[in-house]
Amino acid sequence: MTGSRHDTAPEEGNRDSMVSLRTVANIGDLRTRARNRLPRHLFDFIDGAAFREVTRDDNLAELAKLRFRQRTLRDVSRVTLATTLLGQNATMPLAIAPTGISGILAGGGCGEMLAAKASAAAGIPFTLGMMALSSIEDVCAVAPPPFFQMCMMRDRELVAAMVKRADAAGCPALVLTTTWPFYSQHDRLTNNPAWSMPPRIVSRALLEYAARPAWSLSTLFGRGVRFRNFDAHRAAPWDIVEIVGQLDASTTWDDVAWLRDLWPRKLVLKGINEPEDAERAVSVGADGLVVSNHGGNQLDECSATILMLPAVVKAVGTRIEVLMDGGIRSGQDILKAVALGARGCLIGRAHLYGLGAAGEAGVVKALDVIRNQLQITTGLVGLADVKDASPAILYNPPQVG
Ligand SMILES: Cc1cc2nc3c(=O)[nH]c(=O)nc-3n(C[C@H](O)[C@H](O)[C@H](O)COP(=O)(O)O)c2cc1C
Repeated sequence: MTGSRHDTAPEEGNRDSMVSLRTVANIGDLRTRARNRLPRHLFDFIDGAAFREVTRDDNLAELAKLRFRQRTLRDVSRVTLATTLLGQNATMPLAIAPTGISGILAGGGCGEMLAAKASAAAGIPFTLGMMALSSIEDVCAVAPPPFFQMCMMRDRELVAAMVKRADAAGCPALVLTTTWPFYSQHDRLTNNPAWSMPPRIVSRALLEYAARPAWSLSTLFGRGVRFRNFDAHRAAPWDIVEIVGQLDASTTWDDVAWLRDLWPRKLVLKGINEPEDAERAVSVGADGLVVSNHGGNQLDECSATILMLPAVVKAVGTRIEVLMDGGIRSGQDILKAVALGARGCLIGRAHLYGLGAAGEAGVVKALDVIRNQLQITTGLVGLADVKDASPAILYNPPQVG
């Protein structure tokens, strides 16, 4: 799984994908196609979540419970979705969430570059995770500078050096993930002997690779699993165990203040779910926060983010930009979150299903599907501008506790 091909940007979308996307109506369809194209353990890596996956399911279920009011006889001949997110123009209130290792899903290890290109084509921001297989510089070679996500690491010199690279590359925002003091447990992956990162050749894994020849061949002849944001800082390649070992569980607000001093542009805290923490985010000088439980990948059995959003919005008002992720699979979900005060949403799995199904074309399709749903639904609730969404468009908005 190592090699040097594609060390430069891929020229086009995912060549190995011959999947016709014409009949894809929703993200669920892309999920099915990703399941059919990826080795089982990789599909489980993106689809699964912490422990028994209660929170991942709740994120979806609580969004699904909300119902719209249907207002009619309003002029919805022109519906606009455009907005700004952290100072960046966005053609709809959506950005791509950071997802580590997702480069492996497509393009022979170039998945993040393909997703960044698709985001640029759709006119929405892309967030590159520090644990991506593509470096900041890789992404900047094919798309505008991304938002860059980091965790606080034990080696503060390494943190400072990465921040410096993100600054030099012109990243408009630094996203500090607060929900990852250490790695949680994913029962689905523990159950599967084929799962290991970097991939190992064990018999079960071989069976899974053999069952998915298109993905396996493109990966075999691809550029290999390397953590290029880390490799930029020393000669010897980093492995995932070492990187996870860098997560600093002793991180506190003082470290956020330190990072605030270091980083000149927008600072975003991803994983702020309680009003008290949201207040702290404002006082430490953050420009934005993401109500996020890491898609249910870390603390299982915590509340769905859509239920936490109204109290956070109430606490901070307009002092700081509030975004939300967790369970967003449709334009309808985005409209619900915007109605409850989110400036916009991030998607993790929704774009990964597209990437796993058909590379760049799959992410383009995912964004297209979501935009279409958002456009139609915004008009049908009687709004000409998505920014006018408020709890009034919901029949049963959650009450602020
Ligand atoms: C496979 C996978 C990898 C992820 N890796 C990261 C990461 O490296 N950094 C991070 O802050 N969040 C990471 N996340 C969490 C996402 O940024 C986001 O919070 C979550 O996916 C949102 O939920 P959704 O998948 O239901 O949209 C990851 C999520 C998934 C599914």
